[in-house]
Amino acid sequence: MIQVLDKSFEEFITRDEIDRKIQSLGKTLNETYAGKEVVFLAVLNGAFMFASDLMKEVDLDCEISFVKMSSYQGTKTTGQVQELIGLNTDIRNKHVIIIEDIVDTGHTVDKINSLLEDKGAESLSVCTLLYKPDAFKGQTPPQYVGFSIPNAFVVGYGLDYDEKGRNLDAIYQIREAN
Ligand code: IMP
Repeated sequence: MIQVLDKSFEEFITRDEIDRKIQSLGKTLNETYAGKEVVFLAVLNGAFMFASDLMKEVDLDCEISFVKMSSYQGTKTTGQVQELIGLNTDIRNKHVIIIEDIVDTGHTVDKINSLLEDKGAESLSVCTLLYKPDAFKGQTPPQYVGFSIPNAFVVGYGLDYDEKGRNLDAIYQIREAN
């Protein structure tokens, strides 16, 4: 068990399990997008660790750009997202893969999709390490998912609790008794 700020968490997905899943996601992407022009858009801050490890498994001729939406506070998603900043790559006629740490309600990904819609991409899809299907209220579920998880708060491996815990190398789930 670990403590982050005022909450306790227990290990939920180990570093080994994450590594193995990322290898298999990389293989799927390599097969699916072979010979295609791909741009990865990693959503900061949460996806920095996942994006970095995933890119090492990808052998496509691709670009990667880092974009940012609004920050997320506390243990409940606000559903309020702002503008997309940092997109400095031309995505016209390219296959765009958004890299997310977690898709929860799906609001963030919906917003990013709507902001990219008119930019002429050949295709738009989402690759997320974690997905909470029970919380999802978005348009399209993510196409590439590492782990589908229950609707409970998690930290680590890039994901934060009030900006803490991003540096943990595994994923930890909040304890019920908190
Ligand atoms: P959505 O817009 O509800 O899908 O949430 C997207 C963002 O909320 C993610 O990119 C995370 O930054 C944050 N988030 C959602 N659930 C969690 C969680 O369990 N732990 C940490 N951050 C989360």
